[in-house]
Amino acid sequence: MDEQQAWEAVTELTPAFLKEIDVLYSSAMREICTKLENLRYEFEYNKAHNPIRHITHRLKKPDSILNKMVRKELPPDPEVIREKITDIGGVRVICSYIDDIYAIAEMLKRQDDIVVMREKDYIKNPKPNGYRSYHLTVGIPVFFSEETRIIPVEIQMRTLAMDFWASLEHPIRYKNKGEVPASTRERLTAIAQTIYDADIEMQQIYNEIRALPKE
Ligand code: GTP
Ligand code: MG
Repeated sequence: MDEQQAWEAVTELTPAFLKEIDVLYSSAMREICTKLENLRYEFEYNKAHNPIRHITHRLKKPDSILNKMVRKELPPDPEVIREKITDIGGVRVICSYIDDIYAIAEMLKRQDDIVVMREKDYIKNPKPNGYRSYHLTVGIPVFFSEETRIIPVEIQMRTLAMDFWASLEHPIRYKNKGEVPASTRERLTAIAQTIYDADIEMQQIYNEIRALPKE
């Protein structure tokens, strides 16, 4: 299937299918965001340190769903989309420190309505370009009027520093239709490493200060 055929096929799927996507995945993202907000609220009131700085979410746009289907050579069939594209609902959690990311991930994984579908640790194993983040794809039950559906949500967790890099690198990479000079790519990768070194150093400073005896 070429891109033109895919577009035509998908056009037939709208608008009812897109509305359904919105209802399913927005509901699933709300469930996940509520869980994270509840953790954040608890930390705010009871604990000295709040591991969650902020939480954002986004619904994957139709053209982005389509591009992914073309890239993965999937037929534009609603069933296939629902099964294979697990990042239609995306939640991003920005943490202060690297340890906070693993702590929050564990808290989520412990919740017994959450099914872990996929875990990708790009912090321990960064992408070749230097990208670091922790990705957790979960299935979450959503209770609709007549049925309960398990819907996937991709949760991306990263530090403020990793988010700084990823959010600036992304538009640079897509600026020139992906044609970024090799020297620029190398500089971006070097910055990612500098940022990671800073994250590690900040974590160590924080651990040392926390270990000091209280006045
Ligand atoms: P996709 O088919 O693109 O979803 O790849 P995948 O299934 O292997 O997912 P992966 O976990 O690698 O990453 C998907 C998401 O992570 C992207 O949609 C981005 O939000 C983010 N991401 C991955 N790599 C990069 C990167 O190099 N730079 C930036 N800025 N973001 C990235
Ligand atoms: Mg993905």
